[in-house]
Amino acid sequence: MFKKGLSVFALLFVTGFSMFLGGCTSSNIFTYIIDESYDEFIVMGTSADYAPYEWPMNDDGVQTIVGIDIEIGKAIAKELGMNLKVVNKGFDYLLDDLSSGKVDFVIAGMTPTDARALIVDFSNIYYEAHQVVLVQTASVSTFTNIDSLNSASIRIAAQMGAIQQDLAEENFPLSQKVYLQAVPDLILKLTQGLVEAVVLEQPVAEGYVSNVEGLSILDLEIGEPDGGSAVAVEKGNADLLTTINAVLADMISSGELDQIISDMIILNSTTEE
Ligand code: ARG
Repeated sequence: MFKKGLSVFALLFVTGFSMFLGGCTSSNIFTYIIDESYDEFIVMGTSADYAPYEWPMNDDGVQTIVGIDIEIGKAIAKELGMNLKVVNKGFDYLLDDLSSGKVDFVIAGMTPTDARALIVDFSNIYYEAHQVVLVQTASVSTFTNIDSLNSASIRIAAQMGAIQQDLAEENFPLSQKVYLQAVPDLILKLTQGLVEAVVLEQPVAEGYVSNVEGLSILDLEIGEPDGGSAVAVEKGNADLLTTINAVLADMISSGELDQIISDMIILNSTTEE
């Protein structure tokens, strides 16, 4: 069932991804030395279950996290003259960690919503993405519109605490819902036939289509077309937010971010453990 490049995901399934994300041991902390001369670290929170935004990778025997968001985190650290520490947690822990000061900022493909903006402050959007529905290829012809998925016999999965959970509620009120902490676990349910569909961000879904055989994206519009990702900082941390917005503007106008995005999409579809 799995193509060659899936070994990273396969390994996560075997080792139990949720366990890995839930706890807070030193294995959840990753260090990126931007410059040997910097003494201080800035701390970024993320949830590395979300390629091409962030995902775990074995780099010559060293376990690390890579992705678009990590590159943005490094650029922010560099601008501040600091090294970067990345704390990897379940997505639903991230805003609490920010509010309680455990991390300085969060980059996790996070969409600024009104509810979240009550708790944290958001940067400008750095990447826009559509929301899609991922299914087994064999069922594409069955699910031709929203109504065909909105039925008590259909099980829809989404990430707990993510906007995809709200989208599942809004679009498929009649369906059964399965909400899990880690995205790879949602995909496992789909490949095992334990759910019929997963609501996902398009670039993430496309990654699974290229890495896992037998999955397809439905040709359906769900959710806001103008959703996107932003960096979150603690409420009121205007100085850090100004720096972050300047770094993002620079990365966007120079074309650096576009380059990073296409590199990370390629890396995700070609990764082998
Ligand atoms: N964009 C969605 C949200 O903000 C999902 C983000 C999930 N991110 C992750 N690293 N798992 O709710």
